[in-house]
Amino acid sequence: MPELRLSQAPAHVRHGSNIGQPLTRRDGILKVTGTARFAADNHLPGMLYAVIATSSIARGRVTFLDVEAAKHHPGIVDVMTPAHKPPLAVDPEAKTNPFAFRLDLLHSDRVRYANQPIAVVIAESLEAATQGAKLLAPRYEAEPARVGLDANESYVPPSVGLFNQAEVQHGDANAALAAAPMRIEATYETPAQYHNAMEPHGVVAAWDGDTLSLDMPTQGLVMTRARIAELFGIAPEHIHIRSPFLGGGFGSKGIAVGPQILGIMAARLVGRPVKLVLGREQMYGPVGHRSATRQTMRIGADRDGTLTAIAHHAKISTSTFDDFYEPAADASHPLYASPAIATSHEAVRLDIGTPLFMRAPGEATGSIVLESVLDEAAWACRMDPLAFRIKNYAEVEPMSGRPFSSKRLRECYAQGAQRFGWSQRPLAPRQMRDDAGLLVGWGMGTAIFPALMFEAQARAVLRSDGTGVVESGTHDMGQGAWTAFAQIAADSLGLDLEQIEFKAGTSDLPDAGIAGGSAHTATAGSAIQDAGAAVIAKLADLATRDQHSPLFGAGNAGVIARGGRLFRRDDETRSESYADILRRAGVNELEARGKGAIDPAAQANYAMYAHGAVFAEVKVDPELGQIRATRMVGAFAVGRIINPKLVRSQLFGGMIWGQSFALNEEAITDRRSGRIINANLAEYHIPVHADVGALDVITVDEHDPHVNALGIKGVGEIGVVGSAGAVANAVWHATGVRVRRFPIRIDDVLEG
Ligand code: MOS
Repeated sequence: MPELRLSQAPAHVRHGSNIGQPLTRRDGILKVTGTARFAADNHLPGMLYAVIATSSIARGRVTFLDVEAAKHHPGIVDVMTPAHKPPLAVDPEAKTNPFAFRLDLLHSDRVRYANQPIAVVIAESLEAATQGAKLLAPRYEAEPARVGLDANESYVPPSVGLFNQAEVQHGDANAALAAAPMRIEATYETPAQYHNAMEPHGVVAAWDGDTLSLDMPTQGLVMTRARIAELFGIAPEHIHIRSPFLGGGFGSKGIAVGPQILGIMAARLVGRPVKLVLGREQMYGPVGHRSATRQTMRIGADRDGTLTAIAHHAKISTSTFDDFYEPAADASHPLYASPAIATSHEAVRLDIGTPLFMRAPGEATGSIVLESVLDEAAWACRMDPLAFRIKNYAEVEPMSGRPFSSKRLRECYAQGAQRFGWSQRPLAPRQMRDDAGLLVGWGMGTAIFPALMFEAQARAVLRSDGTGVVESGTHDMGQGAWTAFAQIAADSLGLDLEQIEFKAGTSDLPDAGIAGGSAHTATAGSAIQDAGAAVIAKLADLATRDQHSPLFGAGNAGVIARGGRLFRRDDETRSESYADILRRAGVNELEARGKGAIDPAAQANYAMYAHGAVFAEVKVDPELGQIRATRMVGAFAVGRIINPKLVRSQLFGGMIWGQSFALNEEAITDRRSGRIINANLAEYHIPVHADVGALDVITVDEHDPHVNALGIKGVGEIGVVGSAGAVANAVWHATGVRVRRFPIRIDDVLEG
């Protein structure tokens, strides 16, 4: 069978029969009926329960654990401590690759943050293990915890985010600021935030010799498997991970976290299957968080509102023992045109768990500050905030000068403003009241997120009965990936959704890369599309070379696949079913593999981003200071939409995160102990249903020929960006008080 060049393949497939349909997610029924099996729902014969004992101090040493007391409790099988644990093949402190974050695996008696695992109790029941962990009654030699952004000396980090330069200069921002007739300088603070996925991190681990079977949620099956293989010194092929559903990830499940490895170690130690699931409070420490930031923005503009300088500096926190640096200031790179842009970062090491990627890492923290300060600048120029942003619209990527692969931000501004009614907005703050006398404010912000792609693989098979199987180890974190990928898979094979089986969520399938960077649909979707198209190319080859086929001589590019048949492109009355083609050729099944990867030439030539504009309304009680987010409209240009219903739900979710950033979320650390005092979902505030007002999402049609073959840009993170600033700006517009520390509190607006 001649291999056809994959670049020819997409011509055979006509999109649209499944792609673009607002299908309900396939796992919906399973989830609402409780039959979707999440990792911790698995229960193996002979399985034991492991519970982690965590540190109640943030810095020091564990000097004593009452292991004997725990062991004497009925049902306790073993207690894993630094003195009693199975060996690892590599030091958990070794930085074997940039994503190999240092994990606390009981390798020392040091305590580096509150809630650090210090022992694991393994028992016949969850109750016994929980009680055993209490009986350990640890004693410590505590040292003063370094808490807050001023608690240690700062330094310039080696890089920020994914290997971005910590300091970047384009033009001469200082000179431009000195010469600017209009200058704004403001310092903002954003707090530490926690991912708080509904599903806690956990694992069910079962060893069989050197073969390991795992049920665990992960956003990156193959990468997680590689890390576990490395730590235990076994071949990746001997590890089988099942991760069919995740109850949210948001970046905290991208890599295996320490507690999951401890569960695997516990199973190794006792020679029986073990389940280990974190309690909610235990998720505030060992599984990552969004760094706290203090950001100073300086903006220079001409009197007509034309930006002449943006200087964005971010101070960020990281742990004492590892390096993750929130790229907050980088949010000022791609969005607004300015001849001078300077960004810089400084970091401070604190007695906290290592921060991590959290939904729109850098973009979320940086954007709320950028959008707030732009609002300050617009008001200083007495310009409408939207007009101010349009005045500084970037026609090309501001620092590189590269053209955008596509950018329909103007349309987002126009359609969002129209739907919201923005033209009715009074310029000055504190001008609007509703019938009940509440202050009403309107604010807006711009959303932007890079259209990223990583690498992924897929396999497609067409069977003799005309049905298909498509496989790629994709991850459904709740975003609906399983459904969207099945839609791509069905179209790639020219079949109806019911005629294909889409297999995902296990580590033995082709590597689907990581579900992160809002790039999963683009990346794995491209691989799936590529695999299906390659199968159809093989099928077309069979048919068009066969004299008995009505497609004979049509040439490979002369056929179209649709509804389980190949049609002649120049005469659609001539067609043949897949089953007939395969039967006559005596072929039982056709198989092909596909790949998704970035196109380096396109990447070099074009700047690739998704864009959006978010408009928000808040109401503030003038006497009580209570703030309600009453209405949000987001208009987004995000490339091709695979499933409008799922996209809308992703964008809604992001917009709610934005509201949450502005008004609710904050992890509060006790300065004396270094412990987070609101490490639970009652006191770590997030908007509940009643806190969310009317949400409206517009998707602006956007065709991008450069990002990838399918034109997908990704929607997972962009919803947060812009939304947070829009809500914050609406609070200013309602009250006239500019709050520069998030979340905005009742007393902040009362002080005005
Ligand atoms: Mo995301 S923070 O790329 O899972």
